[in-house]
Amino acid sequence: MRIAMIGTGYVGLVSGACFSEFGVEVVCVDKDESKIERLLRGEIPIYEPGLDKLVTSNAEAGRLSFTTDLKEAVKGADAVFIAVGTPTRRGGGHADLSYVYAAAREIAEAMDGYTVVVTKSTVPVGTGREVERVIRETRPDAEFDVVSNPEFLREGSAINDFMRPDRVVIGAETDRAREVMRTLYRPLFLIETPILFTSLETSELTKYAANTFLAAKITFINEMADLCEKVGADVHDVAKGIGLDGRIGKKFLHPGPGYGGSCFPKDTLALVQTARDSGAPLRIIETVVDINAKRKRQMADRIVEFCGGSMQGKTVAILGLTFKPNTDDMRDSPSLDIVPALIDAGATVRAYDPEGMDEAKKHLDGVVYCSGAYEAMDGADALVILTEWNEFRSLNLTRVKSLLKEPAMVDLRNIYDPKQMADQGFRYQCVGRPL
Ligand code: UGA
Repeated sequence: MRIAMIGTGYVGLVSGACFSEFGVEVVCVDKDESKIERLLRGEIPIYEPGLDKLVTSNAEAGRLSFTTDLKEAVKGADAVFIAVGTPTRRGGGHADLSYVYAAAREIAEAMDGYTVVVTKSTVPVGTGREVERVIRETRPDAEFDVVSNPEFLREGSAINDFMRPDRVVIGAETDRAREVMRTLYRPLFLIETPILFTSLETSELTKYAANTFLAAKITFINEMADLCEKVGADVHDVAKGIGLDGRIGKKFLHPGPGYGGSCFPKDTLALVQTARDSGAPLRIIETVVDINAKRKRQMADRIVEFCGGSMQGKTVAILGLTFKPNTDDMRDSPSLDIVPALIDAGATVRAYDPEGMDEAKKHLDGVVYCSGAYEAMDGADALVILTEWNEFRSLNLTRVKSLLKEPAMVDLRNIYDPKQMADQGFRYQCVGRPL
Protein backbone atom coordinates (compact mmCIF):
# COMPACT_ATOMS: atom_id res chain seq x y z
CA MET A 1 0.00 0.00 0.00
CA ARG A 2 1.19 3.47 -0.81
CA ILE A 3 -0.54 6.68 0.23
CA ALA A 4 0.00 10.40 -0.19
CA MET A 5 -0.84 12.72 2.69
CA ILE A 6 -1.54 16.25 1.46
CA GLY A 7 -0.78 18.79 4.19
CA THR A 8 1.81 18.33 6.94
CA GLY A 9 -0.04 20.24 9.64
CA TYR A 10 -0.98 18.57 12.86
CA VAL A 11 -3.44 16.03 11.45
CA GLY A 12 -1.46 15.24 8.31
CA LEU A 13 1.84 14.73 10.05
CA VAL A 14 0.49 12.59 12.88
CA SER A 15 -1.68 10.48 10.54
CA GLY A 16 1.13 10.10 8.00
CA ALA A 17 3.62 9.00 10.64
CA CYS A 18 1.13 6.57 12.21
CA PHE A 19 0.15 4.98 8.89
CA SER A 20 3.84 4.46 8.12
CA GLU A 21 4.16 2.78 11.52
CA PHE A 22 1.37 0.45 10.36
CA GLY A 23 3.71 -0.54 7.50
CA VAL A 24 2.17 1.60 4.78
CA GLU A 25 4.47 3.56 2.44
CA VAL A 26 3.60 7.22 3.08
CA VAL A 27 4.62 10.33 1.17
CA CYS A 28 3.76 13.56 3.01
CA VAL A 29 3.29 16.60 0.79
CA ASP A 30 3.31 20.29 1.62
CA LYS A 31 3.59 23.47 -0.44
CA ASP A 32 5.71 25.07 2.26
CA GLU A 33 9.29 24.35 1.13
CA SER A 34 10.96 25.37 4.37
CA LYS A 35 8.66 23.05 6.32
CA ILE A 36 9.50 20.13 4.06
CA GLU A 37 13.22 20.93 4.32
CA ARG A 38 12.95 20.89 8.10
CA LEU A 39 11.05 17.60 8.07
CA LEU A 40 13.67 16.10 5.78
CA ARG A 41 16.29 17.10 8.35
CA GLY A 42 14.20 15.34 11.01
CA GLU A 43 12.93 18.54 12.65
CA ILE A 44 9.29 18.35 13.73
CA PRO A 45 7.45 21.68 13.40
CA ILE A 46 4.96 20.97 16.22
CA TYR A 47 5.29 19.69 19.77
CA GLU A 48 3.58 16.33 20.14
CA PRO A 49 4.95 13.71 22.54
CA GLY A 50 6.51 10.76 20.67
CA LEU A 51 6.07 12.21 17.19
CA ASP A 52 9.75 12.97 16.58
CA LYS A 53 10.76 9.36 17.26
CA LEU A 54 7.95 7.97 15.11
CA VAL A 55 8.88 10.24 12.19
CA THR A 56 12.60 9.54 12.42
CA SER A 57 12.33 5.77 12.73
CA ASN A 58 9.86 5.42 9.86
CA ALA A 59 11.81 7.83 7.68
CA GLU A 60 14.97 5.80 8.33
CA ALA A 61 13.10 2.60 7.49
CA GLY A 62 12.18 4.21 4.15
CA ARG A 63 8.44 4.09 4.74
CA LEU A 64 7.92 7.81 5.35
CA SER A 65 9.12 10.58 3.07
CA PHE A 66 8.46 14.26 2.50
CA THR A 67 8.15 16.30 -0.66
CA THR A 68 6.71 19.46 -2.18
CA ASP A 69 5.96 17.58 -5.39
CA LEU A 70 2.27 16.69 -5.12
CA LYS A 71 2.09 15.17 -8.61
CA GLU A 72 4.91 12.70 -7.96
CA ALA A 73 3.40 11.71 -4.60
CA VAL A 74 -0.09 11.14 -5.98
CA LYS A 75 1.00 9.18 -9.04
CA GLY A 76 0.44 5.49 -8.33
CA ALA A 77 -0.88 6.04 -4.78
CA ASP A 78 -3.66 3.70 -3.61
CA ALA A 79 -5.14 6.47 -1.50
CA VAL A 80 -4.59 10.21 -1.23
CA PHE A 81 -5.52 11.89 2.05
CA ILE A 82 -6.49 15.55 2.11
CA ALA A 83 -5.31 16.93 5.46
CA VAL A 84 -5.04 20.64 4.67
CA GLY A 85 -6.30 23.41 6.95
CA THR A 86 -9.96 24.45 7.14
CA PRO A 87 -9.81 27.72 9.08
CA THR A 88 -12.91 29.69 10.05
CA ARG A 89 -13.84 32.07 7.23
CA ARG A 90 -13.91 35.73 8.17
CA GLY A 91 -17.38 37.08 8.98
CA GLY A 92 -19.39 34.13 10.27
CA GLY A 93 -18.43 30.67 11.34
CA HIS A 94 -18.25 28.86 7.99
CA ALA A 95 -15.18 26.74 7.39
CA ASP A 96 -12.93 27.98 4.59
CA LEU A 97 -12.71 25.08 2.12
CA SER A 98 -10.61 26.74 -0.56
CA TYR A 99 -7.51 24.70 0.39
CA VAL A 100 -9.49 21.47 0.26
CA TYR A 101 -10.88 22.13 -3.23
CA ALA A 102 -7.54 23.39 -4.52
CA ALA A 103 -5.94 20.15 -3.29
CA ALA A 104 -8.75 18.10 -4.93
CA ARG A 105 -8.07 19.77 -8.27
CA GLU A 106 -4.33 19.13 -8.09
CA ILE A 107 -4.88 15.53 -7.01
CA ALA A 108 -7.28 15.00 -9.94
CA GLU A 109 -4.65 16.23 -12.40
CA ALA A 110 -2.02 13.85 -11.02
CA MET A 111 -4.03 10.65 -10.38
CA ASP A 112 -3.30 7.59 -12.48
CA GLY A 113 -5.29 4.42 -12.04
CA TYR A 114 -7.98 3.83 -9.41
CA THR A 115 -7.42 6.13 -6.43
CA VAL A 116 -9.32 6.61 -3.19
CA VAL A 117 -9.38 10.30 -2.24
CA VAL A 118 -9.92 10.64 1.50
CA THR A 119 -10.89 13.82 3.35
CA LYS A 120 -9.12 13.72 6.72
CA SER A 121 -9.50 17.42 7.50
CA THR A 122 -12.65 18.28 9.44
CA VAL A 123 -15.00 19.35 6.66
CA PRO A 124 -18.66 20.40 6.72
CA VAL A 125 -21.32 18.01 5.52
CA GLY A 126 -21.46 18.02 1.74
CA THR A 127 -17.75 18.67 1.20
CA GLY A 128 -17.01 15.08 0.12
CA ARG A 129 -19.71 15.31 -2.56
CA GLU A 130 -18.22 18.59 -3.74
CA VAL A 131 -14.70 17.09 -3.81
CA GLU A 132 -16.16 14.29 -5.96
CA ARG A 133 -17.67 16.88 -8.34
CA VAL A 134 -14.43 18.89 -8.54
CA ILE A 135 -12.40 15.79 -9.39
CA ARG A 136 -14.95 14.59 -11.95
CA GLU A 137 -14.98 18.06 -13.55
CA THR A 138 -11.16 18.23 -13.67
CA ARG A 139 -10.66 14.65 -14.90
CA PRO A 140 -13.87 13.21 -16.39
CA ASP A 141 -12.05 9.96 -17.18
CA ALA A 142 -10.60 9.35 -13.70
CA GLU A 143 -11.30 6.17 -11.76
CA PHE A 144 -11.74 7.15 -8.13
CA ASP A 145 -13.89 7.17 -4.99
CA VAL A 146 -14.13 9.89 -2.39
CA VAL A 147 -14.12 8.76 1.24
CA SER A 148 -14.56 10.67 4.48
CA ASN A 149 -12.35 9.52 7.36
CA PRO A 150 -12.41 12.09 10.17
CA GLU A 151 -9.76 12.07 12.87
CA PHE A 152 -10.51 11.96 16.59
CA LEU A 153 -6.99 12.77 17.79
CA ARG A 154 -6.37 14.88 20.87
CA GLU A 155 -3.30 17.07 20.89
CA GLY A 156 -0.84 15.75 23.41
CA SER A 157 -2.01 12.14 23.04
CA ALA A 158 -2.51 12.01 19.28
CA ILE A 159 -0.29 9.00 18.60
CA ASN A 160 -2.02 6.81 21.14
CA ASP A 161 -5.40 8.04 19.91
CA PHE A 162 -4.43 6.97 16.38
CA MET A 163 -2.95 3.63 17.34
CA ARG A 164 -5.62 2.65 19.87
CA PRO A 165 -8.77 4.58 18.94
CA ASP A 166 -12.22 4.08 20.47
CA ARG A 167 -13.48 3.74 16.91
CA VAL A 168 -12.72 4.58 13.31
CA VAL A 169 -15.42 6.22 11.20
CA ILE A 170 -15.23 5.75 7.43
CA GLY A 171 -17.72 7.23 5.00
CA ALA A 172 -17.15 5.02 1.95
CA GLU A 173 -19.83 4.10 -0.51
CA THR A 174 -18.27 1.42 -2.75
CA ASP A 175 -16.85 -2.02 -1.94
CA ARG A 176 -13.62 -1.10 -3.68
CA ALA A 177 -13.08 2.00 -1.51
CA ARG A 178 -14.04 0.13 1.66
CA GLU A 179 -11.49 -2.57 0.80
CA VAL A 180 -8.66 -0.03 0.43
CA MET A 181 -9.58 1.56 3.76
CA ARG A 182 -9.82 -1.84 5.45
CA THR A 183 -6.32 -2.70 4.24
CA LEU A 184 -4.92 0.61 5.50
CA TYR A 185 -6.42 0.13 8.94
CA ARG A 186 -5.66 -3.61 9.11
CA PRO A 187 -3.66 -3.41 12.39
CA LEU A 188 -6.71 -1.88 14.08
CA PHE A 189 -8.95 -4.72 12.92
CA LEU A 190 -6.51 -7.05 14.64
CA ILE A 191 -7.04 -5.28 17.98
CA GLU A 192 -10.81 -5.38 17.41
CA THR A 193 -11.33 -1.63 17.08
CA PRO A 194 -14.92 -0.86 16.07
CA ILE A 195 -14.83 0.38 12.48
CA LEU A 196 -17.98 2.10 11.36
CA PHE A 197 -18.71 2.29 7.64
CA THR A 198 -21.22 4.98 6.73
CA SER A 199 -22.21 7.31 3.90
CA LEU A 200 -20.08 10.39 3.19
CA GLU A 201 -22.54 12.79 4.83
CA THR A 202 -22.97 10.68 7.96
CA SER A 203 -19.24 10.39 8.48
CA GLU A 204 -18.72 14.13 8.04
CA LEU A 205 -21.50 14.96 10.48
CA THR A 206 -20.32 12.37 13.03
CA LYS A 207 -17.07 14.26 13.45
CA TYR A 208 -18.85 17.53 14.21
CA ALA A 209 -21.43 15.81 16.38
CA ALA A 210 -18.62 14.30 18.50
CA ASN A 211 -16.74 17.57 18.99
CA THR A 212 -19.81 19.69 19.66
CA PHE A 213 -21.18 17.11 22.09
CA LEU A 214 -17.88 17.18 24.01
CA ALA A 215 -17.86 21.00 23.97
CA ALA A 216 -21.41 20.93 25.37
CA LYS A 217 -20.38 18.44 28.06
CA ILE A 218 -17.54 20.71 29.19
CA THR A 219 -19.83 23.75 29.14
CA PHE A 220 -22.41 21.85 31.18
CA ILE A 221 -19.90 21.06 33.92
CA ASN A 222 -18.53 24.62 33.82
CA GLU A 223 -21.99 26.03 34.48
CA MET A 224 -22.59 23.37 37.10
CA ALA A 225 -19.32 24.50 38.76
CA ASP A 226 -20.66 28.06 38.96
CA LEU A 227 -23.83 26.76 40.56
CA CYS A 228 -21.79 24.65 42.99
CA GLU A 229 -20.00 27.78 44.15
CA LYS A 230 -23.32 29.47 44.88
CA VAL A 231 -24.87 26.58 46.80
CA GLY A 232 -21.74 25.23 48.51
CA ALA A 233 -21.50 21.95 46.58
CA ASP A 234 -18.36 20.30 45.18
CA VAL A 235 -18.33 20.01 41.39
CA HIS A 236 -15.79 17.17 41.42
CA ASP A 237 -18.13 15.02 43.47
CA VAL A 238 -21.06 16.02 41.30
CA ALA A 239 -19.03 15.02 38.22
CA LYS A 240 -18.13 11.70 39.81
CA GLY A 241 -21.69 11.13 40.94
CA ILE A 242 -23.10 11.60 37.48
CA GLY A 243 -20.13 10.22 35.55
CA LEU A 244 -20.39 6.78 37.12
CA ASP A 245 -23.69 6.46 35.31
CA GLY A 246 -22.60 4.67 32.15
CA ARG A 247 -25.09 6.69 30.12
CA ILE A 248 -23.22 9.89 31.04
CA GLY A 249 -19.60 8.75 31.31
CA LYS A 250 -16.77 10.04 33.50
CA LYS A 251 -14.65 11.83 30.94
CA PHE A 252 -14.80 15.49 29.89
CA LEU A 253 -16.46 16.59 33.09
CA HIS A 254 -13.53 18.62 34.36
CA PRO A 255 -14.43 22.28 34.92
CA GLY A 256 -12.05 25.04 33.92
CA PRO A 257 -11.69 28.41 32.23
CA GLY A 258 -13.61 27.34 29.10
CA TYR A 259 -12.58 25.08 26.22
CA GLY A 260 -10.05 26.28 23.67
CA GLY A 261 -7.81 24.79 21.01
CA SER A 262 -7.86 24.41 17.28
CA CYS A 263 -10.96 22.20 17.15
CA PHE A 264 -13.84 22.83 19.56
CA PRO A 265 -14.16 26.61 18.99
CA LYS A 266 -13.87 26.24 15.20
CA ASP A 267 -16.08 23.16 14.90
CA THR A 268 -18.87 24.43 17.16
CA LEU A 269 -19.05 27.62 15.06
CA ALA A 270 -18.99 25.70 11.78
CA LEU A 271 -21.73 23.27 12.84
CA VAL A 272 -23.91 26.15 14.05
CA GLN A 273 -23.60 27.64 10.55
CA THR A 274 -24.31 24.34 8.77
CA ALA A 275 -27.37 23.81 10.96
CA ARG A 276 -28.69 27.33 10.34
CA ASP A 277 -28.06 27.04 6.61
CA SER A 278 -29.90 23.71 6.60
CA GLY A 279 -32.93 25.13 8.41
CA ALA A 280 -32.39 22.94 11.49
CA PRO A 281 -30.65 25.27 13.97
CA LEU A 282 -28.78 23.65 16.85
CA ARG A 283 -29.82 25.93 19.65
CA ILE A 284 -27.93 23.99 22.32
CA ILE A 285 -24.65 24.45 20.48
CA GLU A 286 -25.36 28.13 19.76
CA THR A 287 -25.74 28.60 23.52
CA VAL A 288 -22.57 26.60 24.23
CA VAL A 289 -20.57 28.88 21.91
CA ASP A 290 -21.95 31.96 23.62
CA ILE A 291 -21.40 30.70 27.18
CA ASN A 292 -17.84 29.57 26.45
CA ALA A 293 -16.82 32.92 24.93
CA LYS A 294 -18.24 34.79 27.93
CA ARG A 295 -16.64 32.38 30.39
CA LYS A 296 -13.10 33.27 29.34
CA ARG A 297 -13.78 36.94 30.04
CA GLN A 298 -15.48 36.08 33.33
CA MET A 299 -12.30 34.29 34.40
CA ALA A 300 -10.35 37.53 34.02
CA ASP A 301 -12.99 39.32 36.15
CA ARG A 302 -12.67 36.57 38.73
CA ILE A 303 -8.90 37.16 38.99
CA VAL A 304 -9.38 40.94 39.27
CA GLU A 305 -11.91 40.44 42.04
CA PHE A 306 -9.56 38.03 43.81
CA CYS A 307 -6.88 40.74 43.70
CA GLY A 308 -9.18 43.20 45.46
CA GLY A 309 -11.06 44.69 42.51
CA SER A 310 -8.20 46.73 41.01
CA MET A 311 -5.09 45.61 39.15
CA GLN A 312 -3.33 48.97 39.24
CA GLY A 313 0.21 48.41 40.46
CA LYS A 314 -0.38 44.66 40.87
CA THR A 315 1.68 41.84 39.41
CA VAL A 316 0.16 38.52 38.47
CA ALA A 317 2.16 35.36 37.77
CA ILE A 318 0.52 33.18 35.12
CA LEU A 319 1.50 29.52 34.86
CA GLY A 320 0.45 27.90 31.59
CA LEU A 321 -0.48 29.72 28.38
CA THR A 322 -1.32 26.92 25.93
CA PHE A 323 -4.95 25.74 25.67
CA LYS A 324 -4.03 22.50 27.41
CA PRO A 325 -0.86 20.68 28.53
CA ASN A 326 1.53 18.71 26.30
CA THR A 327 1.17 20.99 23.34
CA ASP A 328 2.65 24.29 22.21
CA ASP A 329 -0.67 25.23 20.61
CA MET A 330 -2.05 28.63 21.58
CA ARG A 331 -5.06 28.61 19.26
CA ASP A 332 -8.16 29.93 21.03
CA SER A 333 -6.42 29.37 24.36
CA PRO A 334 -8.25 30.95 27.32
CA SER A 335 -4.98 32.82 28.02
CA LEU A 336 -5.56 34.89 24.87
CA ASP A 337 -8.62 36.47 26.52
CA ILE A 338 -7.52 36.42 30.13
CA VAL A 339 -3.98 37.83 29.86
CA PRO A 340 -4.87 40.92 27.76
CA ALA A 341 -7.86 41.63 30.04
CA LEU A 342 -5.54 41.65 33.07
CA ILE A 343 -3.02 43.89 31.32
CA ASP A 344 -5.82 46.26 30.23
CA ALA A 345 -6.95 46.41 33.84
CA GLY A 346 -3.47 47.68 34.78
CA ALA A 347 -1.70 44.48 35.87
CA THR A 348 1.87 43.49 35.16
CA VAL A 349 1.78 39.90 33.91
CA ARG A 350 4.75 37.57 34.39
CA ALA A 351 4.19 34.30 32.56
CA TYR A 352 5.71 30.90 32.01
CA ASP A 353 4.68 27.90 29.92
CA PRO A 354 6.82 24.75 29.49
CA GLU A 355 6.38 24.45 25.70
CA GLY A 356 4.25 27.35 24.56
CA MET A 357 6.57 30.34 25.06
CA ASP A 358 7.57 30.80 21.41
CA GLU A 359 3.97 30.59 20.23
CA ALA A 360 2.74 32.78 23.08
CA LYS A 361 5.19 35.54 22.15
CA LYS A 362 3.55 35.72 18.71
CA HIS A 363 0.10 36.28 20.23
CA LEU A 364 0.51 38.06 23.55
CA ASP A 365 2.26 41.43 23.83
CA GLY A 366 3.20 43.30 26.96
CA VAL A 367 3.91 40.14 28.98
CA VAL A 368 7.09 39.60 31.00
CA TYR A 369 8.10 36.11 29.82
CA CYS A 370 9.99 34.11 32.43
CA SER A 371 12.15 31.04 32.10
CA GLY A 372 10.54 29.04 34.89
CA ALA A 373 7.54 28.83 37.20
CA TYR A 374 9.35 30.17 40.26
CA GLU A 375 10.89 33.04 38.33
CA ALA A 376 7.39 34.06 37.18
CA MET A 377 6.02 34.25 40.70
CA ASP A 378 8.95 36.23 42.14
CA GLY A 379 7.43 39.35 43.72
CA ALA A 380 3.93 38.74 42.32
CA ASP A 381 0.75 39.61 44.22
CA ALA A 382 -1.03 36.46 43.07
CA LEU A 383 -0.33 33.23 41.23
CA VAL A 384 -2.78 32.05 38.57
CA ILE A 385 -2.76 28.54 37.11
CA LEU A 386 -4.21 28.65 33.61
CA THR A 387 -3.02 25.30 32.18
CA GLU A 388 -2.60 22.06 34.11
CA TRP A 389 0.93 21.10 33.04
CA ASN A 390 2.24 18.29 35.25
CA GLU A 391 5.14 20.39 36.50
CA PHE A 392 2.65 22.82 38.09
CA ARG A 393 0.91 20.06 40.03
CA SER A 394 3.60 19.67 42.64
CA LEU A 395 5.03 23.12 43.20
CA ASN A 396 7.04 23.55 46.38
CA LEU A 397 4.44 25.59 48.27
CA THR A 398 6.93 26.83 50.87
CA ARG A 399 9.04 28.23 48.07
CA VAL A 400 5.95 29.66 46.37
CA LYS A 401 5.03 31.43 49.60
CA SER A 402 8.49 32.88 49.98
CA LEU A 403 8.41 34.29 46.44
CA LEU A 404 4.90 35.76 46.33
CA LYS A 405 4.14 39.03 48.12
CA GLU A 406 1.34 37.20 49.89
CA PRO A 407 0.27 33.56 49.56
CA ALA A 408 -2.56 33.88 47.04
CA MET A 409 -3.46 31.48 44.25
CA VAL A 410 -6.21 31.30 41.62
CA ASP A 411 -6.29 27.73 40.35
CA LEU A 412 -8.51 27.68 37.27
CA ARG A 413 -7.77 23.97 36.67
CA ASN A 414 -8.44 22.70 40.20
CA ILE A 415 -5.09 20.95 40.49
CA TYR A 416 -4.64 21.77 44.17
CA ASP A 417 -6.70 20.70 47.15
CA PRO A 418 -8.59 23.59 48.81
CA LYS A 419 -8.08 22.17 52.30
CA GLN A 420 -4.36 21.63 51.80
CA MET A 421 -4.03 25.18 50.47
CA ALA A 422 -5.87 26.60 53.47
CA ASP A 423 -3.63 24.58 55.82
CA GLN A 424 -0.60 26.03 54.05
CA GLY A 425 -1.96 29.53 54.69
CA PHE A 426 -2.93 30.34 51.11
CA ARG A 427 -5.80 32.51 50.03
CA TYR A 428 -7.00 30.11 47.38
CA GLN A 429 -9.65 30.24 44.71
CA CYS A 430 -10.60 27.39 42.39
CA VAL A 431 -13.58 26.43 40.22
CA GLY A 432 -16.75 24.96 41.71
CA ARG A 433 -15.37 23.58 44.97
CA PRO A 434 -16.12 24.85 48.48
CA LEU A 435 -13.18 26.44 50.25
C1 UGA B 1 -10.45 17.62 20.47
C2 UGA B 1 -11.15 16.27 20.65
O1 UGA B 1 -11.03 15.84 22.00
C3 UGA B 1 -10.56 15.22 19.72
O2 UGA B 1 -11.29 14.00 19.84
C4 UGA B 1 -10.66 15.73 18.28
O3 UGA B 1 -10.09 14.84 17.35
C5 UGA B 1 -9.91 17.05 18.17
O4 UGA B 1 -10.51 18.00 19.08
C6 UGA B 1 -10.03 17.53 16.74
O5 UGA B 1 -11.16 17.78 16.29
O6 UGA B 1 -9.03 17.54 16.03
P1 UGA B 1 -8.14 18.71 21.37
O7 UGA B 1 -8.67 20.00 20.83
O8 UGA B 1 -6.75 18.31 21.07
O9 UGA B 1 -9.08 17.49 20.88
O10 UGA B 1 -8.22 18.79 22.95
P2 UGA B 1 -9.14 18.27 24.13
O11 UGA B 1 -8.35 17.42 25.02
O12 UGA B 1 -10.41 17.71 23.63
O13 UGA B 1 -9.43 19.63 24.91
C7 UGA B 1 -10.13 20.71 24.30
C8 UGA B 1 -10.40 21.80 25.29
O14 UGA B 1 -11.36 21.38 26.26
C9 UGA B 1 -9.18 22.23 26.11
O15 UGA B 1 -9.18 23.64 26.21
C10 UGA B 1 -9.38 21.58 27.46
O16 UGA B 1 -8.76 22.27 28.50
C11 UGA B 1 -10.88 21.62 27.57
N1 UGA B 1 -11.44 20.59 28.48
C12 UGA B 1 -11.38 19.28 28.15
C13 UGA B 1 -12.03 20.98 29.67
O17 UGA B 1 -12.10 22.18 30.00
N2 UGA B 1 -12.57 20.02 30.49
C14 UGA B 1 -12.54 18.70 30.16
O18 UGA B 1 -13.06 17.88 30.96
C15 UGA B 1 -11.92 18.32 28.97
